[in-house]
Amino acid sequence: MIVSQKAYRRGASLPHSNPFQRLAGLLDGETPGLDPIVMTIGEPQHAIPPFTADVLMDNIDGFRRYPAITGSPEFRGAVAAWLDRRYGLNGMIDADHGVLPLNGSREGLSFGAIAARDQLAKDLDHPVVILPNPFYQTYAAAAHVADAQAVLLDAMPGNGFLPDLDSLDPDLLDRTVAFYIASPTNPEGFAADIPYWQRLITLARKHRFFIFADECYSEIYREVPPPGILEAARAMGSDFSNIIVLNSLSKRSNLAGLRCGFAAGDPDFLKKWARFRGLAAPQVPLPAQAVAVRAYQDEDHVIENRRLYNEKFAVAERLLSPLLGPVTPDAGFFLWLDTGRWGESPAVALDLWRTIGVKVLPGSYLASDQPDGSNPGRNYIRVGLVAPLEKTEMALERLANWFGEKA
Ligand SMILES: Cc1ncc(COP(=O)(O)O)c(C=O)c1O
Repeated sequence: MIVSQKAYRRGASLPHSNPFQRLAGLLDGETPGLDPIVMTIGEPQHAIPPFTADVLMDNIDGFRRYPAITGSPEFRGAVAAWLDRRYGLNGMIDADHGVLPLNGSREGLSFGAIAARDQLAKDLDHPVVILPNPFYQTYAAAAHVADAQAVLLDAMPGNGFLPDLDSLDPDLLDRTVAFYIASPTNPEGFAADIPYWQRLITLARKHRFFIFADECYSEIYREVPPPGILEAARAMGSDFSNIIVLNSLSKRSNLAGLRCGFAAGDPDFLKKWARFRGLAAPQVPLPAQAVAVRAYQDEDHVIENRRLYNEKFAVAERLLSPLLGPVTPDAGFFLWLDTGRWGESPAVALDLWRTIGVKVLPGSYLASDQPDGSNPGRNYIRVGLVAPLEKTEMALERLANWFGEKA
């Protein structure tokens, strides 16, 4: 069942105000009950990899040059080799044609839908772009700039927080040019399994659309590495047609400010996209690509990064699960807490700020209202575990006390 359809036309204002601006409005003039602790941020706070400064200095002269839009052969090679190791691709990724550098995955997500629309030439006034709901706000911006109709599919716990693929209308899929999906999901932190990915790939080929698989949280997992869409394609014995995976160093290596990521997958799509990007998009600076080469060759810093997050999730589970049930997601660095018993998420966020000084994001601000007035984020708050352990533990203790007192 399609639960929400919203048409955004070129020239109209962007469909969503920024969740952080909405939160600022909600808390405007409110005084925090205790020393403030901000748990809203999705920006990694752990240390950057120890080699970053040396690699940047060794390649500093690269700032003089305009890089190629397709990146350096070393960059493409390092990414292809990492994908191969991580997903057991058996050499299927061709470094020269299957990888493109991006200024962070966000840049690729923004412009992917336009390229999909142009390449597919489905001869529709307003093709469809499918998004999960809640969603990373850039997906909606991508639908807007592609002059597409954004169709939002609720991601609910009953379906592992993934859009329900079995309920999609074939006519809608025929009009679709781009299907945006995050796995691990954001903000819930659940991972699509191989059969799910394979069902989506089959639909994309049958109905001719491109999948933009946002895997930027792929390395921030608890125990089991989330399966990737390229891995699923390989397991079907197929190539990577209709699949574009996006990832970056922002979460894996705590290098959000480096703005360095990649798109990989369908070589035909990427070749045409590179031509478009050669006119429209900024290239990735060579020193940033050099850091990426080193970062994709190193897993030690990623293992340490995961350990630090997992330590914090263990504290969250210990303090919160007696009150809320299990709280630890498969992956990512957010808690997505069902706090519906205590009220709708903006009211909960406001009370948490007023009484215990903990700033969290109301889930309803990360999702779109449905035509029937429902909102899949309404009963949830998002709590980021990015701060150091001690501070995170202090915030979680305050939250546990608040939940306990109001139980
Ligand atoms: C789900 C999701 N996708 C993509 C991004 C963009 O990441 P970047 O452009 O830094 O790779 C983010 C950043 O927060 C995100 O949360």
